[in-house]
Amino acid sequence: MVTLQTLLGIELPIIQAPMAGVQDSRLAVAVSNAGGLGSLPCAMLSPSAMRTELAHIVAHTTRPYNVNFFCHTPPTPNAQREAEWRAMLAPYYRELELDLAAIPSGILRAPFGTDAADVLDDFKPAVVSFHFGLPSPELLARVRAGGSKIFSSATTVDEARWLEAHGVDAIIAQGLEAGGHRGMFLSDDLSTQIGTFALLPQIVQAVALPVVAAGGIVDPRGVAAAMALGAAGVQVGTAYLLCPEATTSPVHRAALSSEAARHTAVTNLFSGRPARGVVNRLMRELGPLSTAIPDFPLAASALAPLRAKAESQGRSDFSPLWSGQNASGCREMPAADLTRELARIHDSGASASRA
Ligand SMILES: Cc1cc2nc3c(=O)[nH]c(=O)nc-3n(C[C@H](O)[C@H](O)[C@H](O)COP(=O)(O)O)c2cc1C
Repeated sequence: MVTLQTLLGIELPIIQAPMAGVQDSRLAVAVSNAGGLGSLPCAMLSPSAMRTELAHIVAHTTRPYNVNFFCHTPPTPNAQREAEWRAMLAPYYRELELDLAAIPSGILRAPFGTDAADVLDDFKPAVVSFHFGLPSPELLARVRAGGSKIFSSATTVDEARWLEAHGVDAIIAQGLEAGGHRGMFLSDDLSTQIGTFALLPQIVQAVALPVVAAGGIVDPRGVAAAMALGAAGVQVGTAYLLCPEATTSPVHRAALSSEAARHTAVTNLFSGRPARGVVNRLMRELGPLSTAIPDFPLAASALAPLRAKAESQGRSDFSPLWSGQNASGCREMPAADLTRELARIHDSGASASRA
């Protein structure tokens, strides 16, 4: 069976999940230098910021790394939906003494485009991974021509087959336990979404590509279980969120370290697309799911002032507290140690079965 080690020439079958908004190149460097595959999320980076982060990576590691992008269709602004959303948020603006008319414009997340492809040409990372499908065939051909292996997330067997037909090198099977945005792209029906250990073996059976398991994996036994079900490796996100190299905010760290982290839900309130996070006030009072909000990623703009003001008061009421269903693996430990700990698979798998 092809493993991530044979596919990429890395030591450990561990990908540190790209996590936009909570990490930069420091986490990626630490994981790659430990023998896993570190990832740089670029969904919220300008091309020049991307260039700075990539320069930091190549200055601090010679090992393979992954660069990650979203490939959603850019939204068409809809004035009525925006007005409805602002009306829903108006009581919170009053409570926090903020001005609804002063919402900053600008889109907080851009899909992969030619600007980003230009930057990649100068760095040629070992892996480029995509969330929400794939970019246009022309852009994909450019990435491939640079020699990068192409990974993308599938949340259903249909998406895995689609990605295989479109020429990816590996599939990330993202189960419903996973923190952050659902990578779903062929359907927006949440009832199609299933758990990691139901999804993984079905995708392994349906495609001839290496499959990476993502969602709810936080310790060596979880890694061993995924490998036993045919995974070529695992992609772990939530467990890295308390590492000192992550830029996770204080309110997010506090939520992950508390009992509150046992209750997560899939919500579309923070961006317009479904994503899993710790249940907080906004999710309890307006959702967690709503049909009345602007399309991804426009919903985030009107929340930004609320989030900033509340966070300055130490409150997480309006912040996306992205987390998978299993935050029990979040520990304040260096990312290199966590990576090596996760990869104690064969040892712990063998001793667990002997016990
Ligand atoms: C805080 C956070 C941010 C995320 N951002 C991204 C992202 O930018 N790109 C992406 O492909 N996946 C993103 N994800 C999803 C991860 O790639 C992965 O599917 C997930 O973390 C795996 O589940 P786990 O969190 O239970 O380990 C994010 C996840 C989290 C927790």
